[in-house]
Amino acid sequence: MKSIQIAIDGPSGAGKSTVAKALAQRLGIVYVDTGALYRTVGYAVRQANADPKDPEAVAALLPQLHLDLRYEADGTQQVYLNGEAMGNRIRTPEMSMYASAVSAIPAVRAFLLDTQREIAQRNSVIMDGRDIGTVILPKADVKIFLTASDECRAKRRWAELRQKGMETDYEEVLADMRQRDRQDREREIAPAVAAPDATVFDNSWMEPDACTNALLQLIEEKYGLGVAK
Ligand code: DC
Repeated sequence: MKSIQIAIDGPSGAGKSTVAKALAQRLGIVYVDTGALYRTVGYAVRQANADPKDPEAVAALLPQLHLDLRYEADGTQQVYLNGEAMGNRIRTPEMSMYASAVSAIPAVRAFLLDTQREIAQRNSVIMDGRDIGTVILPKADVKIFLTASDECRAKRRWAELRQKGMETDYEEVLADMRQRDRQDREREIAPAVAAPDATVFDNSWMEPDACTNALLQLIEEKYGLGVAK
């Protein structure tokens, strides 16, 4: 099979990672969670006590950061920062905000560009993020912009945090999510918007399995890519 590139973009809580992971498994290709890279840079900035919105302070830290994407035996992606596995440390609400802030800095986007493109050159991939279809893989075979209502997305995020043992207030999760989405959508560089040739898919009230199946069908019928049975 020729190598394929599938781009899944969209706002937070749209279910991109759940669905992209399932699709990767069904298609037998590599799943890349690009948000984890921005979260790791955010984590390093936090560790250095630097201001995530200060482009010069953040850019000055980048040469000291070595980021590595590795896959565990079960296919789970792990980001290593200077040899240390990040695990769940980058999954907190605080790190979501740090990731969003550093992701608006051009030097950070340039720093992470090659890592993302290289992995797509070496493997068939399904990559989830905000600018995969617009900037990272503009020639991707499939481009999907996954979205859902604010309330549905916030409920999912809230349940996910709760499952990880982080008790949070739903209204707070909703407000944080809206702020982060606005920041990601309105930034000057690589804003989180659908590529003109992307298929916009709203999965509000849809279970993850139903969404995965609908996207598999879309990939097969609209884009003509064979699905491994
Ligand atoms: O997908 P996520 O919630 O883990 O992403 C965290 C932040 O990283 C998100 O608010 C914006 C940024 N991001 C980005 O700018 N570009 C990407 N391709 C992925 C994430």
